[in-house]
Amino acid sequence: MTAKGFFISFEGGEGAGKTTQIKRLKDWLESSGHAVILTREPGGTPEAEKIRDLLVKRDGGNWDGLTELLLFFAARRHHVETLIKPAMAEGKVVICDRFADSTEAYQCFGHGVSTDIYAQIKTIVLGDFAPNLTFLLDVPVNIGLKRSKRVNDSTTVLSDAEVEDRFERLDVSFHEKLRQGFLTIAARETNRFKVIDALQSLDEITTCIENAVNDRLQDNV
Ligand code: TYD
Repeated sequence: MTAKGFFISFEGGEGAGKTTQIKRLKDWLESSGHAVILTREPGGTPEAEKIRDLLVKRDGGNWDGLTELLLFFAARRHHVETLIKPAMAEGKVVICDRFADSTEAYQCFGHGVSTDIYAQIKTIVLGDFAPNLTFLLDVPVNIGLKRSKRVNDSTTVLSDAEVEDRFERLDVSFHEKLRQGFLTIAARETNRFKVIDALQSLDEITTCIENAVNDRLQDNV
């Protein structure tokens, strides 16, 4: 068990392969004796999942960028206060599929909301709370989009997740903005971020992630 909780987020655009790596990391941490909570954004608590539905389901309505940003942060506040912080207080490792960096990348870099507004709202909602470690799985846009199309095409039975509209089925230039946005955020916060070349093999990526987590968990005592 870790003496203190530890919070890891995964970020990246379409087809970066977050899901596989998150599962592998959870299994690896559990096999080495850590208690792990796996969660996601938007969502993670029943209340925040309702906000997720508003945002990502086809019948959710059309929101402008700032309204979206506010909804993401409303869901995030509930998620952080009622799930993430309590789990960390119990010494658990929390792994979250996307967190606040996605808001800056999608709503600001992608949809043009000012980063100043983002920073102000982030301070109001999160204060200085942030992941201990963030993995950015970086993949060239054309390859990521092809990969995510393959995943979607191979699906025959639709689960809830698949019924959700692919929220960002937007054009390639949007995904380029998103990728550059994530890389810009990562370059600004080099201590927190580990950028991973997601063109490597699954096993190579897993090894990078495990090594980084190992190093940071040792420092977290
Ligand atoms: P999801 O199906 O979970 O996408 P992915 O598998 O790519 O993680 O849907 C979440 C969508 O919401 C995704 O397109 C990214 C977007 N998003 C934002 O626009 N802002 C945010 O703050 C977050 C957390 C997600």
